[in-house]
Amino acid sequence: MTRRKQIEELHEIIRKCTLCPLHETRTNAVPGEGPCTAHVMIIGEAPGAREDESGRPFVGRSGELLISLMHEIGLSRDSVFITSILKSRPPKNRTPTQSEISACKPHLERQIEIINPKIIILLGGVAISSLVGPWKVSEAHGRFYETDGRTYFMTYHPAAALRFPKVKVLMREDFQTLSQELV
Ligand code: URA
Repeated sequence: MTRRKQIEELHEIIRKCTLCPLHETRTNAVPGEGPCTAHVMIIGEAPGAREDESGRPFVGRSGELLISLMHEIGLSRDSVFITSILKSRPPKNRTPTQSEISACKPHLERQIEIINPKIIILLGGVAISSLVGPWKVSEAHGRFYETDGRTYFMTYHPAAALRFPKVKVLMREDFQTLSQELV
């Protein structure tokens, strides 16, 4: 089966998923999107209101900032695969619970396996602690980490950068660090 077919089948499963109670409150599940041959995969925390409405990842204000930071280092939205730790929106955008993260993780693991990206960018504490370990974003940001044959790059979540101008400066610096590895 081609990678495209494998991803499409997986995303159909995710759209119908009932493995955690968030399926009762979501409008649409948000599996993620991008080329299945992408070298770069970006992982956020969970869909927000706009993503829940549209079924597409990072289409709200956080997405706008993320895409503009990517453009600054020559990465286009179309060239990367974008998803989040959770595929369903938590009510009022509350932080995902451990049991929601565990229930959803097999979907993400399968996406990583199919896409097999060269580098995985983790946005914020939830993505970092779910895939790398319990590391504070303030210490982990701007760093690469290799484990289980995967290369991760850790930075802030754009929602934090929208709230705190200093975080936006740090996030922009992180993307410059990242760009040196993408050449
Ligand atoms: N924040 C995320 O982490 N993911 C989205 O898809 C949107 C906002």
